[in-house]
Amino acid sequence: MKIISSIEDLRDQLRGQLRTAFVPTMGNLHEGHLSLMRLARRHGDPVVASIFVNRLQFGPNEDFDKYPRTFQADVEKLEKEGVYVLFAPTEKDLYPEPQEYRVQPPDGLGNILEGEFRPGFFNGVCTVVTKLFSCVQPRVAVFGKKDYQQLMIIRNMARQFALPTEIIGAETFRAEDGLALSSRNGYLSPAERAEAPFLYQTLQYVAEQARAGHPDLAALERDAMARLAGHGWQPDYVSIRKRMDLQAPSAAEHAAGDPLVVLTAAKLGNTRLIDNLEI
Ligand code: PAF
Repeated sequence: MKIISSIEDLRDQLRGQLRTAFVPTMGNLHEGHLSLMRLARRHGDPVVASIFVNRLQFGPNEDFDKYPRTFQADVEKLEKEGVYVLFAPTEKDLYPEPQEYRVQPPDGLGNILEGEFRPGFFNGVCTVVTKLFSCVQPRVAVFGKKDYQQLMIIRNMARQFALPTEIIGAETFRAEDGLALSSRNGYLSPAERAEAPFLYQTLQYVAEQARAGHPDLAALERDAMARLAGHGWQPDYVSIRKRMDLQAPSAAEHAAGDPLVVLTAAKLGNTRLIDNLEI
């Protein structure tokens, strides 16, 4: 595997490649990331991964400084997956001057759910993903469904800008007890790790109730928030949305069987976890 940090060297290395499959990451790779590499391999060749902890998508009080950086271990895992190039730019490589031109998602999608609780997050994500796409020029790119809203925003962005990159969504990779794998799981104490699957169990409860025709989705969301709080969580939201556009379904849309997804973000101690489940 070639490890490349400069945009120029990356362009030289990938010149003439028309079927590149790309997996952007922030490193601290776990089985969930590796499943994205395997899916990428089924959709293109060569597989290119990136590791870049993108300052632009972190708020001032978020975990940019303490975000886990495990470069050597990541390299070994990517080697085993047969990744052809690892693009690992420094901040100076990717942002040699202040990144003043930004990609701003529309308010209706960018300022709800994660966007409401993490102002600027999707601006930072869309900006770096656009820049990474410009460097790698992939034919396909793979993103996990665990970041459901991120996947939808990137897919819409690629469509509206007519980017030549097909966006592929990968199923969430879960531990045996149901906890969605995430680099932030590493922040959990042993007691918190034992409690953490309750987030997914709450989503399963909501999904079962909604499938059984629960008439009042807002009440169901409140019920789920209370359950989490009762277990010591501080939930930001539990929200049932239409899969198509992440807007709240009307009673008529729910009754008509519009496909739904329940999304949540909640803090356990100092660790904020997100998860979702298609209903
Ligand atoms: O999902 C992530 O890890 C990041 O948001 C991404 C897509 C690599 C952009 O920094």
